[in-house]
Amino acid sequence: MFQRIMTFSAAFLFISTLSAASLPDIKMADTGLPFQKIEGYEDYRIVATHWRTDKKELRYVLANPIAYDAIKAKKLPMPEGSIMVKIGWSVKPMGAFPLALEADKLQRIEYMVKDSKHFDQNGDHWGYARFVKKGDTYVPYANGSAECVACHSSVASDDYLFSSFQPTF
Ligand code: HEC
Repeated sequence: MFQRIMTFSAAFLFISTLSAASLPDIKMADTGLPFQKIEGYEDYRIVATHWRTDKKELRYVLANPIAYDAIKAKKLPMPEGSIMVKIGWSVKPMGAFPLALEADKLQRIEYMVKDSKHFDQNGDHWGYARFVKKGDTYVPYANGSAECVACHSSVASDDYLFSSFQPTF
């Protein structure tokens, strides 16, 4: 019996640890895209890093396996199922070496998914979602996705992507 309780508690602990690591169950109001669509995004591969001079924000762009192969091979338009994720952090001087800056607070996580069945603004086939950090939680971006489409349309000839594969050697 004792052993059974231990096994049960271990299983429970495992499940609760798993769900604690899950992304919040929220979605973009207009596109309906859930945050949980990119569960596991931390394992996507980095394709580009950017520094936004006006917002003083460090940004990583990651690609899921479908998007990674395409962007690396410069094969545009990106295939169905491609997901590009962008993460933004504020920065702070590194304690042990203040001339270097390091990521401080996570500010937002956003993504684009290639889904031609559900999205076709100007023929782009991308769906957009942004989740903004407020204190300890995230909220969907209140202004909706129209502004994403408007700005990303300026790079329509690159399949609406600003990023290109960052040289690694
Ligand atoms: C005013 C212009 C502008 C708006 C509005 C905008 N973006 Fe972007 N986006 C950019 C630029 C510039 C980059 C590349 C530089 C960077 O990483 O900040 C980018 C990069 C991205 C990337 C990485 C893939 C790529 O295209 O390089 C994603 C994902 C993304 N944006 C999602 C969104 C979402 C979601 C929204 C709306 C909630 C949005 N963007 C709104 C300009 C914009």
